[in-house]
Amino acid sequence: MTYSTVFWNRIAKSYANKPVADVEAYEFKLDKIRGELNPDMNVFEFGCGTGSTALKLAPLVASYQAIDFSEKMIAIAQGKLRDTPIPQLDFLQSALEEHPIQNNSLDAIIAMSVLHLMNEPQSAIAHAFTKLKPGGLFISNTACIADSMPWFKYIAPLGHSLRLLPKLHVFKQTTLMAYLTEAGFTTKYEWITENNKMTLFVISQKPLKSTQS
Ligand SMILES: C[S@@+](CC[C@H](N)C(=O)[O-])C[C@H]1O[C@@H](n2cnc3c(N)ncnc32)[C@H](O)[C@@H]1O
Repeated sequence: MTYSTVFWNRIAKSYANKPVADVEAYEFKLDKIRGELNPDMNVFEFGCGTGSTALKLAPLVASYQAIDFSEKMIAIAQGKLRDTPIPQLDFLQSALEEHPIQNNSLDAIIAMSVLHLMNEPQSAIAHAFTKLKPGGLFISNTACIADSMPWFKYIAPLGHSLRLLPKLHVFKQTTLMAYLTEAGFTTKYEWITENNKMTLFVISQKPLKSTQS
């Protein structure tokens, strides 16, 4: 088990009890996502945490699988699902890097507040591209810390080695957009949260005719 998994397991309970920091921005993004979903879609979410977003979006689609590598986060999500059953929703403990998904099989992939926390954000984005059908959507919300706190790039590795922080990448919004473009995505919608200029919400699309797989 990596230290990041240990970290997220450790804070799962307090994360679940923490209120959403900016409700207005969260609801705005949810509405944007809802506008892209339809009842025929097969949706996949990684880094779903305690499942709040999945529980809100899953009723709108045909199937919604949500994974997280923290067993404690997933246990909380599964508990919520037991209280409010949604037949098409499934929570599973799994790391994105190890989770089997057929290429070109998904209509949408959702990654909320997770790309900057992955071992290799660039590979995760490229991986998402291969799993989407042509025309499929990759919807991400990412803390691009380098734009407002560039010095954090010195703190992040130190905090991780001292076991105070999970693995954390400090990159700019332009870097994230470059990763998305390099993977082959086009940008359908881009929004920076008003109260928190660090967070970039992007709806990216895999072109219908792609030169990449
Ligand atoms: C900041 S939390 C975000 C949770 C949720 N998406 C939200 O918006 O509240 C990041 C989550 O990503 C999970 N995570 C990080 N890296 C992962 C990976 N490689 N595969 C699956 N889950 C991962 C962590 O366990 C944690 O629950």
